[in-house]
Amino acid sequence: MIKAVTGTKDILPDEIPAWKLVEKTIERIFHNFNYKEIRTPVFEETSLFARGIGEETDIVGKEMYSFTDRSENNITLKPEMTASVVRAFIEHSLGKQQSLNKLYYVSPMFRQERPQAGRLRQFHQFGAEALGSTSVYLDVEMIQMAFEILKELGLKDLNVKINSLGTPESRNAYKEKLRKFLIDKKNKLSEDSRKRFDKNILRIFDSKDENDKKIMKDAPLLLDHLDSESKESFEIVKETLKLSGIPFEVDPYLVRGLDYYTKTTFEIISGKVGSQNALCGGGRYDLLAEHLEGEPTPGVGFAAGIERILLACENEKSLKSPEENIDLFITRLDDELSQKVFEIALNFRRKNLSVDCDYLDRSLKAQMREANKLKAKYVLFIGGDEYKSGMANLKNMESGEQKLVQIDKLDEVLLSQK
Ligand code: HAM
Repeated sequence: MIKAVTGTKDILPDEIPAWKLVEKTIERIFHNFNYKEIRTPVFEETSLFARGIGEETDIVGKEMYSFTDRSENNITLKPEMTASVVRAFIEHSLGKQQSLNKLYYVSPMFRQERPQAGRLRQFHQFGAEALGSTSVYLDVEMIQMAFEILKELGLKDLNVKINSLGTPESRNAYKEKLRKFLIDKKNKLSEDSRKRFDKNILRIFDSKDENDKKIMKDAPLLLDHLDSESKESFEIVKETLKLSGIPFEVDPYLVRGLDYYTKTTFEIISGKVGSQNALCGGGRYDLLAEHLEGEPTPGVGFAAGIERILLACENEKSLKSPEENIDLFITRLDDELSQKVFEIALNFRRKNLSVDCDYLDRSLKAQMREANKLKAKYVLFIGGDEYKSGMANLKNMESGEQKLVQIDKLDEVLLSQK
């Protein structure tokens, strides 16, 4: 039997109401902050991500779904959206039309990671990117939006972590200090961290290895080696977050897995989803547009994983998705009336009522069972002696009240009840 590919997941009809609720919440909150939706293709040229995210990152080095298509183009299924949004921003000169572009997205992403709870190979992100301003208030706005969305979804066990990665100059100077600190300890590090020592030394802070963690505890911190500009903006981030009533903690070990960040970075962690606990992450990336050969344009953004959020909602029992029901179920007492029932159904469907009927030649009892299962508000009985005199019984399923109505007046009766 052919099954869904490892790490991918079908979203079945009974899961859809929760997804729709999340999507509606996302749209509402982004609208409240005046962000406009952008949609980009599912695949891009591989070099966009290699250059944008960084050759030495795990995403580019190990996780991308990359292939050569039949025209020898190097293609990658997008592992994240920031590089794509910045590419679209440059390609369509969005910065010329508007000096600040506030954009949001909801889209599937692809990373070939080891699948586990909360970690998939095709997953869905929503996120936002603000391009064109260095205002630190936009850094805070990202955290506010992410936090509001998670709060609206009823999540409580949340931990906002913030850090600053400084400018590339201060970061490079700091990396030198870190290298000096680690050079004589290098042999004691795990194999992964030894590799990172040469390629991406900051990521050693991300190691899950207990011995690495012990070593890194005494390492100098980037936060203590920031340039004055980064320091100042980090202070404003902290003050403004306090004013927003958003609890947070400064986490000097938060380094993030993408290379484009400058200054503010953040993650929101759930205490309820096991090891894959980052519900969202983001930060400022003032040099990315330039790096992708666009006009220098500062940017800041975040992205959140919908599957992980839904897992947290399930574990916190926080979501009350609306019940799905239909307006009308039409039962048929005689089989010859199938066509008539179908005609009445179309009439009401065209008038925006949600209507269903029987397609399986079921008994009246079985049709009623189906109507109950579908949580129909009304059931219409077509057939019998009443039908011969142009009448039909209409039952209000909530009150149990049943009344005889003229079939050619059904419109009036039903539409007035809606
Ligand atoms: P990221 O931290 O790589 O950041 O991903 C953001 C979120 O996507 C994670 O916190 C997690 O919830 C979800 N996620 C990532 N990988 C998986 C996976 N394999 N399965 C399920 N969920 C996953 C970015 O992608 C950046 N583009 C964020 C950003 C936007 N920074 C600035 N602007």
